[in-house]
Amino acid sequence: MAIVVLGSLNVDFVVEASRFPCAGETVLGRRFTRHPGGKGANQAVAAARLRAHVSFFGKVGDDLFGEELLRSLRENGVNVEAVERERGSSSGIASIWVTENGQNAIVYIPGANAAVDPAYVDSMFPQLVAAKVLLLQLEVPVEAIAYLLRRLPPNPPLVILDPAPAQDISNLPLERVDIITPNRGELTALTREEGVGEAARKLLAFGVGQVVCKAGAEGAYLIGRDNFRRFPAFPVEPVDTTAAGDAFNGALAVALAEGQSIEDAIRFANAAGALAAIRQGAQPSLPTRREVEALLRKADQAR
Ligand code: RIB
Repeated sequence: MAIVVLGSLNVDFVVEASRFPCAGETVLGRRFTRHPGGKGANQAVAAARLRAHVSFFGKVGDDLFGEELLRSLRENGVNVEAVERERGSSSGIASIWVTENGQNAIVYIPGANAAVDPAYVDSMFPQLVAAKVLLLQLEVPVEAIAYLLRRLPPNPPLVILDPAPAQDISNLPLERVDIITPNRGELTALTREEGVGEAARKLLAFGVGQVVCKAGAEGAYLIGRDNFRRFPAFPVEPVDTTAAGDAFNGALAVALAEGQSIEDAIRFANAAGALAAIRQGAQPSLPTRREVEALLRKADQAR
């Protein structure tokens, strides 16, 4: 098993408007759409579209949305044999507002994702530990993630943690996280530090191997114990940045699983993130391998 994702599946209800409403205000919207999403499922689809072998672990509700979410993963070639249906539970839901400059705001209701627990981790452990790269996020309970990290042997698998949505991670054994990938907002929320360098060094002090900060139009930062480097973004006009971070994580995992250097992997991931930002929706926006390679070639030719 090359890439394993343990995480969330959500149905995204997306409302597009010129701007976010203020409290108590009504604004005229432009469009409403519904897409398969969830940070875990998005990262699995992102990796599969980049031609990796991907297996997904998580839970859906016993509603109609559950089947829809699984279908999207299957259609993208993701193995979903281990996904369980949580009886009496609804599937995860995200209500997403997108403005005309591509910004988004999300309210997330976990539903069946909240039922991912240590017992599920135990039942799936042989498959989880067989991964080359393990992708984790925080839309499933942090207790389940902490439990898994404590049970894992030292590398392999290589563990990439997306600390999103940002929350208290003080109980996570961060010394078992090889790469943590917060965006700028999450980095500040996790560390209460504004500067990328200071904030990242706090995470390194908690034992994380390396910090890769996703910084949108600024690109991405790589911070290790002896290095600090910024990788410029691919210039694009964002339409909807939903899942751009998930595209980045999926691509990072694929490149590292293929044996690329961390520097090349971040460039590959930046390209995937940029392409996801120029299309609407979560899973519908995730680029193929051919598209990412074409963008990388174009950038090389322009050098
Ligand atoms: O990262 C984007 C995802 O976060 C969306 O697909 C939505 O489900 C939210 O949870």
